[in-house]
Amino acid sequence: MLVPFELRRKLLQLEALYDIGRALSSLRPEGDLLEELMQRAVAVLDATIGFAVSLDAESQLQHLYALGLREGESAERVMATEPVRRVLAMRTPLSTTVSEFLGEPGGAVLVAPLLAGDVLLGAVGVVGKEERGAAPGSFVEDDLRFLASLATIGAAAIDNSRNFARLNRMRESLESENRSLRERMLREFSDRLMIGDSPQMQRVIDLVARVADSHANVLIRGESGTGKEMIARLVHGNSPRREKPFIALNCAALPETLLESELFGIERGVATGVEARPGKFELAQGGTVFLDEIGDIPLTLQAKLLRVLQEREIEKLGGRKKIKVDVRILAATHRPLETMIERGEFRQDLYYRLKVVEIKLPPLRERRQDIPKLVRYFLDKYGRREGRPDIRLAPEALDKILTYPFPGNVRELENLIEGAVALAVDPVIGSADLHLGSLTEASGGTVDRLGTDLPTLRELELRYVAKVLTETKGNMSHASRILGVDRKTVYRLRDALSQNSTIGEFVDIN
Ligand SMILES: Nc1ncnc2c1ncn2[C@@H]1O[C@H](COP(=O)(O)OP(=O)(O)OP(=O)(O)O)[C@@H](O)[C@H]1O
Ligand SMILES: [Mg+2]
Repeated sequence: MLVPFELRRKLLQLEALYDIGRALSSLRPEGDLLEELMQRAVAVLDATIGFAVSLDAESQLQHLYALGLREGESAERVMATEPVRRVLAMRTPLSTTVSEFLGEPGGAVLVAPLLAGDVLLGAVGVVGKEERGAAPGSFVEDDLRFLASLATIGAAAIDNSRNFARLNRMRESLESENRSLRERMLREFSDRLMIGDSPQMQRVIDLVARVADSHANVLIRGESGTGKEMIARLVHGNSPRREKPFIALNCAALPETLLESELFGIERGVATGVEARPGKFELAQGGTVFLDEIGDIPLTLQAKLLRVLQEREIEKLGGRKKIKVDVRILAATHRPLETMIERGEFRQDLYYRLKVVEIKLPPLRERRQDIPKLVRYFLDKYGRREGRPDIRLAPEALDKILTYPFPGNVRELENLIEGAVALAVDPVIGSADLHLGSLTEASGGTVDRLGTDLPTLRELELRYVAKVLTETKGNMSHASRILGVDRKTVYRLRDALSQNSTIGEFVDIN
């Protein structure tokens, strides 16, 4: 049976509406929505011309699409046509006829407003019904109803898309405001304890600001005394874990068995006389563990540490049950881990686990620009501590500091100022009050200063060890860090030194 023409058209229009509703419900840019709307209207209604416009909140033209206009005709002129003006003013659908439309032969015109609630978002319209066989060349009442329904769906989709874009903009601006506030806070806060205006240090501080929020493990590299521990504290202090503990452990300071029990803890009864003790991981629950001098941790412990990082649980010494731990790991070292990996002294898998993000601290000699501010900062700190808040540095003393290479980096500078403040008689520290090492000329270093004194390599080595031991007041782990050898080697060198009467007498150790 032949479906009557009327019925077929209604069916077609209903299907089209259903289809459009689905197509528009997936959010898209407003322009795409309008264009789709116009094309569907033209296709279903067999029109020769179609258009769709949208207006912004100030009723200014936002988007305009037109189809079937004479070539060279400006689409904007659609807005000035009588039917469109009337619909935008009356906000009701309109069916009318015009004798011409922007230079084209006119005919029947249908226009429907795009209304979201009582907000006018624009209009959609068609002009000139195509004649198709028996189909009449004019629109019928159903066609206007169809266009009005299409406009309702379209307006809802545009409204959605605008709300979505508005929310997105709001979120973005809130996020960027939040980010800049955090970075400013970090900058101001870090400025008070972390001195560093040089571009190198600014890069480091930016990186800290970015990684602090995440849960990523961070490996902090840098020579001795460059501020690795400070950076670790800064990362923790600006992380979501800041209210939870920051637990530091120096992996170079302890022999292997002790280090293991420090890390993982001991269950009662492992050995007589040994108290049950929680390990650092347990103590740091929810917070941060800082593994300082990670390059000094023995291989067997590296394997155990790796397991903790992978499984996020620990097994205490002598314990049988596993304990879940939620900690973030920050690690630091001055050692060349990559070379150590090649030599089989450091596990590559552990290295990658620790080094999700890497922060490299530049040595002080590569950022001399930071020295004056550091000097002021330490003068102020130790001046106040010694009850001499007005103590200053003579210009030539600062000059001397500025040319010194600082192998011990910021810590060496800090010790230098601390010592000078403690010993200074005058309120102004002169260059003679500064007990800088023998490296004062930035170029050349010790070897240039030997002059006619030509020691053997062994002698030179022992002299240097003597000097380091003096500087570190006999602190073995500090000396081992400066010398870049393990503590056992330092003990051996010290013994060799005490048997060498000519050098030994320079050394003030007990
Ligand atoms: N940018 C800085 N501003 C102020 N003080 C600093 C700065 N960097 C380091 N210091 C100070 O220098 C000393 C050494 O810093 P820190 O202990 O963090 O260095 P490190 O790299 O961990 O050294 P090491 O390798 O010897 O353990 C600390 O007293 C610290 O307060
Ligand atoms: Mg340190």
